[in-house]
Amino acid sequence: MARMAIVLAAGQGKRMKSKLYKVLHPVCGKPMVRHVLDAVGQANCERAVVVVGHGAETVRARLGDSVEYALQAEQLGTGHAVMQTRSLLADADGVTVVVCGDTPLVTAATIEALISLHEREGAAATVMTAEMADPTGYGRIVRGPDGGVLRIVEQKDCSPEEAQIREINTGTYCFDNRKLFAALERVTNENAQGEYYLTDVFGILKQQGDRIAAYMTDDPAEAIGVNDRVALGEAERLMRQRITLKHQLNGVTIIDPASTYIESDVTIGPDTVLYPGTMLRGSTAIGSDCAIGPHADLTDTRVGDGSAIRQSVADQALLGNECSVGPFAYLRPGTRLHDEVKIGDFVEVKNSVVGQGSKIPHLSYVGDAEVGAGVNIGCGAITANYDGYNKSKTVIGDNAFIGTNANLIAPVKVGEGAYVVAGSTITHDVGAGDVAIARERQVNKAGYAEKLRSKARSKKERESK
Ligand code: UD1
Ligand code: CA
Repeated sequence: MARMAIVLAAGQGKRMKSKLYKVLHPVCGKPMVRHVLDAVGQANCERAVVVVGHGAETVRARLGDSVEYALQAEQLGTGHAVMQTRSLLADADGVTVVVCGDTPLVTAATIEALISLHEREGAAATVMTAEMADPTGYGRIVRGPDGGVLRIVEQKDCSPEEAQIREINTGTYCFDNRKLFAALERVTNENAQGEYYLTDVFGILKQQGDRIAAYMTDDPAEAIGVNDRVALGEAERLMRQRITLKHQLNGVTIIDPASTYIESDVTIGPDTVLYPGTMLRGSTAIGSDCAIGPHADLTDTRVGDGSAIRQSVADQALLGNECSVGPFAYLRPGTRLHDEVKIGDFVEVKNSVVGQGSKIPHLSYVGDAEVGAGVNIGCGAITANYDGYNKSKTVIGDNAFIGTNANLIAPVKVGEGAYVVAGSTITHDVGAGDVAIARERQVNKAGYAEKLRSKARSKKERESK
């Protein structure tokens, strides 16, 4: 049977007190509504319609064309929101999953389980529920004497007895599509909030003799609806736990899960060890047998197998196998390290390729450069790639040796196997196999040290009188 999904994302989220629309707030680096869409996609919903309203254009721009949209110009309630998808969905036969865009922890497996129960029971509507220690703010599940669900009551419409109920509505449901749209026609806004509640569909279907069912999830995390920053922090914590657990089960050692932050889409190979204080963000992908951290901060960075990165920052960098980076290195966008490259302490690399086995061990800046294989760049050597207006390129051939504190004034080329003497400022290309020396010749003045000191001493005495 056809499976469709409706994701409710039109609300402003006043309680977030934010310029950013609620469903775009990230949890572990990904907007909440994206998490929800990923879950319905993995649960094999062929179509997903997102109901947008507040910030409609911004939300659409973030989510792109892979989903359909329905506009809810005025936010008159969750039932009204679902009604806005009528022209897209009402004529279809099948099962429709409805999820709130602010429940980022809902999983595909649970949605699948919800749908199977729904189909097994032959229900017209099935709600996902959870037992909450503190049910405040959620709709309550009212069950009859036989244990069957009668209706869902919003917190603000609860009688004192109903307020005691700890089984809550998670905001995830599935419906017989045609029955959903038929029942929505009968929903009114006669309630405490003056809104058209989607939850009223349950009572309506029950009264007309349809079967309604409930699927209780045993993971209350899945129920978290993020209405304010407190819940956002809680969702972040629970999502982080879930992500670390997944990597641990895949064979990654995480020395201190509590101080390790891994975003949702990061991948990590087995036998890699993450040391405390490490943050892996965006599309970062780490190979196997790596040692990352302590205190590595990697964004959209790919790392091959067997590499080590300590106390360093990398952004949009590409590292090969068996590389060693840090402590205290900064790899900026466009850095590409081939295998077995060593980048040492206080080295910054930007928009540069470094060939296999090359070493930049200490205190260097390498920008807009092409560094061959087997190159050694001495302590303090830099590429001067910027004249205040233009960026220029430095090319260093295989097996070249760049002495300490050399300045390579770009555009410039150092040939294969060439040798740049320490302290040189190189302004002209150096041929392959050549030695370049560009510094003043040294002069030694025999015995002059004492003379120099006495001159300095008498100057000081004169001044202090
Ligand atoms: C809703 C449920 C409540 C449930 C809770 C779970 C209703 C009436 N209540 O309450 O039973 O326990 O979720 O988290 O459904 N939205 C729109 N258009 C609107 C109103 C809301 O798109 O006109 C969207 C919001 O952007 C949000 C979602 O629907 O993503 C839920 O709305 P929200 O106002 O947060 O509902 P709750 O009061 O949390
Ligand atoms: Ca909510």
